[in-house]
Amino acid sequence: MAPAMSNPLLSDRVARSKKVPSSHVRAVGDRPDLANVDHESGAGIPLIDLKQLEGPGRRRVVEAIGSACENDGFFMVMNHGIPEAVVEGMLSVAREFFHLPESERLKCYSDDPKKAVRLSTSFNVRTEKVSNWRDFLRLHCYPLESFVDQWPSNPPAFRQVVGTYSTEARALALRLLEAISESLGLERGHMVKAMGRHAQHMAVNYYPPCPQPELTYGLPGHKDPNAITLLLQDGVSGLQVQRDGRWVAVNPVPNALVINIGDQLQALSNDRYKSVNHRVIVNSASERISVPTFYCPSPDTVVAPADALVDDAHPRAYRPFTYQEYYEEFWKMGLQSASCLDRFRRIE
Ligand code: OGA
Ligand code: NI
Repeated sequence: MAPAMSNPLLSDRVARSKKVPSSHVRAVGDRPDLANVDHESGAGIPLIDLKQLEGPGRRRVVEAIGSACENDGFFMVMNHGIPEAVVEGMLSVAREFFHLPESERLKCYSDDPKKAVRLSTSFNVRTEKVSNWRDFLRLHCYPLESFVDQWPSNPPAFRQVVGTYSTEARALALRLLEAISESLGLERGHMVKAMGRHAQHMAVNYYPPCPQPELTYGLPGHKDPNAITLLLQDGVSGLQVQRDGRWVAVNPVPNALVINIGDQLQALSNDRYKSVNHRVIVNSASERISVPTFYCPSPDTVVAPADALVDDAHPRAYRPFTYQEYYEEFWKMGLQSASCLDRFRRIE
């Protein structure tokens, strides 16, 4: 239930103020240092064309995906198969949702991370000391029929539009997981099988314009706890990835999606593929919307690498754990650069 006294959402409370409130101001050594960011001319990460993924060029595409997973942990894909109209529909219904009157949006508010559908702010308001410049709607998406009836029914097209997008995003996640399995020399279906019954969550992130972007984060540096993330962003920059200790801006490329390896694929690949630190910066000129799809093992899945990826030179990096155990640890830790995965590392 929404608290009766005050609106907890950022977008309504402070977005129009001239100063960032103290609740959102980071300590001096913990600020984004915006002058020290690499703005490369391209996307800043590899851009991979998926057009040939199901054709004679498959092997080359698989190799490109494999080397991006190994060296960058992040890449962009074009010709990914999700129709442009579906992508545009998703972004516009997301914008419409966050532009609804607050009384309407607040019907979805909850600060309980266990809820399958909820609107909240920052990251985990129950545990964090400084808040982030973000409101977000989080939805469980798979199996769709188990959750869609709990999703917001306003805007009226929300369930249909978001349901279509999340079904398309799942199909793309499965194709990528097949390519990733092959790139590791495993059977095409390996990763899909290793993830049990599967789960899919979506965040609809809303970053309002911020009067002092140098004092706060949309999201501070973190690694994603799931297996693979498919990020749809509107035309506004904000995502940055860490490479060799430097922050690199990932500028949006029209019709491309950003893909990144999460902690579970790092574990399932026995550390061959990298879950990389990334963060979100806000800006004073415009709001920004992003829609990450987090594809994950089901909670009861025991996460462990294929035998073929373990040998004397590559001993098991992690103790076996269930995804549920991992996810609870992740939420407890909060967003910080210390890796949650390191807590599951085997000590020889
Ligand atoms: C996330 C994330 C990036 C973005 O939600 O985990 O990294 O651009 N989002 O919003
Ligand atoms: Ni992330």
